[in-house]
Amino acid sequence: MAARKAIYLGTFAHCKTLQELEICPNGAIGVDEMGVIAFVDRHVKDTSGLEFRPGWEDAEIVAASESSFFFPGFIDTHIHASQYPNAGIFGNSTLLDWLNIYTFPLEGSFTSLSKASRIYNRVVSRTLSHGTTTATYHATIHVPATNLLADICKQKGQRAFVGRVCMDRMSPDYYRDENPETAVRDSRACIEHVRSIDPKFELITPVITPRFAPSCSEASLRGLGELHEETGVPCQTHISENKSEVALVKELFPKAKSYTHVYDDCGLLTSKMILAHAVYLSEEERALIKTRDAKISHCPASNTALTSGAARIRDLLDRGITVGLGTDVSGGYSPSILEEARQAMLVSRHVAMQDGDGAKLSTEEVLYLATRGGARVVGLEDKIGGFEVGMDWDAQMVRLGTVSGDGQGDLDTGLVELFGGEDWSECVAKWLYTGDDRNTVAVWVKGRLVHQVATYRP
Ligand code: GUN
Ligand code: FE
Repeated sequence: MAARKAIYLGTFAHCKTLQELEICPNGAIGVDEMGVIAFVDRHVKDTSGLEFRPGWEDAEIVAASESSFFFPGFIDTHIHASQYPNAGIFGNSTLLDWLNIYTFPLEGSFTSLSKASRIYNRVVSRTLSHGTTTATYHATIHVPATNLLADICKQKGQRAFVGRVCMDRMSPDYYRDENPETAVRDSRACIEHVRSIDPKFELITPVITPRFAPSCSEASLRGLGELHEETGVPCQTHISENKSEVALVKELFPKAKSYTHVYDDCGLLTSKMILAHAVYLSEEERALIKTRDAKISHCPASNTALTSGAARIRDLLDRGITVGLGTDVSGGYSPSILEEARQAMLVSRHVAMQDGDGAKLSTEEVLYLATRGGARVVGLEDKIGGFEVGMDWDAQMVRLGTVSGDGQGDLDTGLVELFGGEDWSECVAKWLYTGDDRNTVAVWVKGRLVHQVATYRP
């Protein structure tokens, strides 16, 4: 919660729709003590920001400098917190061997709470520093370590969905659920822990997490479907990421009509389900996902790194399916949603080289996926993803380079070069293509300052 009212002054940008980025160069956004946006002025005449605002005389003024702007915090709809030490380490592997060689041994080591503490503290701090104000995490099967991740998110102030991973078959002996009953029991324990630290799930929400169909017996999927129905807690899993995985699901679930039907048959394909990847879905599966209003997390960096494939995002959007972005660390190598947005642009261009120009995603579209789209994926579209009255102040201040380009500024603004003739939409495009965490100088969640670079001065 914010300590006092604040007025954020200067340029702000946010996505109005999938196609429209609104940029207000002389804006003022008032945020109350609860961290909720109380007013949005699109054109302030008086740069003190206090004009016509009785009751806001004592508010803290946070002004963006000339080459800075406020942007909504990013939403990472799919990240494996436990895999963070492996970011960048995947060699030439593909999904199923990558899991066995790199991933299960690392995740299996989270019996050590001191190791979990070290890694989880780092991944939460690191994602915050990249402007990720909301993250949907896969943890591991371990209850104490998963609960610790929830505690760390709460303490550092990151909005988070925290999932205890379920896997009761086709998993190594050292890292698996004993049986479907223990998988459900341990998931329930993690839900109850979150309830004990955040009873209304205001910042932290538990998420039921069957790893993916090959790792789960039908009985465990059914048990988790029942838990979903009973508790109303959201769900997440992987779907149709890699061709060998799709073939394996067909073999393991011979009676199911499709991979998507495996989840649907077990009561897991609902509007509160986040499906990561969705590369090889059939026509019928996409239609079913639309009917159920299940959500998709697009993970382009991971899909390229593990040579999984290229998801057809334009088609999903045209069907009205809700899509957000996921870093999928460590299938994906970067904890940055800005990088993921960039990868979404590039992968869509590769798809366009095969399917035609219509597949290309625009700057506006990928920034929408990174914010509003992600908010819809996690069911918080009324709360986060944009700057509207009544929404929470989940935001980042982005600072670009100085026009002089002398490199002598007091702040390292990285690769973004401004030459003085750019309009604001060009500045945003430069940020998307050449920016990184050096440009994210301050980050707020619910009005609380949760990250700032050392040289940031409000
Ligand atoms: N499918 C099952 N588990 C995983 C995982 O950890 N990462 C990715 N990318 N795909 C998966
Ligand atoms: Fe994943």
